[in-house]
Amino acid sequence: MYNIALIPGDGIGAEVIGEGRKVIEAASCKFGIEIKWNEYPFGAEHYLKTGELMPDVALKEIKDMDAIYLGAIGDPRVKPGILEKEILLKTRFYFDQYINLRPIKLYKGVPAPLKDKNPEDINFYVVRENTEDFYIGIGGRFKGRAHRDHLEVLRKLYKAKIQVDFNLEQEEEIAYQLGLISKPGTQRVIKYAFELAKKKNMKRVTSVDKANVLTYIYGLWRDVFEEISAQYEGIETEFTFVDAITMWFIRKPEWFRVVVAPNTFGDIITDLGAMIQGGLGIAAGANINPEGLSMFEPIHGSAPKYKGKSVANPVATILTGVMMLDHLGETKAAQAIENAVEKVLSEGKVRSHDLGGNSSTVEVGDEVVRKLKEINIK
Ligand code: IPM
Ligand code: MN
Repeated sequence: MYNIALIPGDGIGAEVIGEGRKVIEAASCKFGIEIKWNEYPFGAEHYLKTGELMPDVALKEIKDMDAIYLGAIGDPRVKPGILEKEILLKTRFYFDQYINLRPIKLYKGVPAPLKDKNPEDINFYVVRENTEDFYIGIGGRFKGRAHRDHLEVLRKLYKAKIQVDFNLEQEEEIAYQLGLISKPGTQRVIKYAFELAKKKNMKRVTSVDKANVLTYIYGLWRDVFEEISAQYEGIETEFTFVDAITMWFIRKPEWFRVVVAPNTFGDIITDLGAMIQGGLGIAAGANINPEGLSMFEPIHGSAPKYKGKSVANPVATILTGVMMLDHLGETKAAQAIENAVEKVLSEGKVRSHDLGGNSSTVEVGDEVVRKLKEINIK
């Protein structure tokens, strides 16, 4: 039996997670899997009512479970950063989910946003580092005396060549934020990317950075990439700058197999990746700790304006459920659901609003379940 922590979260979260759960339950029934869902109320509503975000006791409880299945976090009533940092990032960090795996796959039947690109052209993985870089949360905002002191500290500690001419006597404000990457933190994510390439028989790994400007942190990133890539024969490698890769995602997505990126750039390029596979309504994702507890959440956010309208596309969350089952070793159930989703998408009879149809969130979920029942996996 699997113990899954279920966090529907905010906005459309509850609606899409409801469909994800329904589909997983149908697959469980078919393949003799038993799942116990442990639901948690964390998110904006709960925070506004109780002041609680993600309590440590809950994390300790979840630690003994098999996975987390999460809808979305974010709400316009709460200042940006609070829910994101204290629920989502806290959980990723607590469980040291150092991989954020985001497949970019254009399924048949999904209106291709890129002209002349077909499903065989868009099928790759982005492996995003998930615990370091500019996400470590170290920084500050200062003015006045504190400002002057801090500037001195910064100069000394980081040898920052601050060139802006601050008027220290006036109350000018400064802010800074540090990006940090570590050698072991970089080794483990790059190793994962190469292992993934090997496992999937994908023979190219592309590294993303901005080593021409952020020379310290991405200089280290590059050195580690070279060190790890030397251990893998037969896999082609390349470096790209993050600005250039956004262009190549559009111009030549068929080039990519496995792309490995530091946290911040990985965040940005996977929204673009989601678009070229047909939109955020399709894009699945997983925060993985290969040795520990992982959390499965679609790339999209809580889309507050669509909340309660039953117009959200649950496919991203359903495919995220596929990643979860796959991770748990339930490969047949995972494959069956993916096949069912493929059928629904390619037939196009039941199609959500983002893909140009008018089916509701529940109708899409129901259709996936219907197709799932017809599928035979040996
Ligand atoms: C994502 C999101 C999060 C991130 C936010 C909500 C903290 O954009 O999962 O891509 O930046 O990682
Ligand atoms: Mn993002």
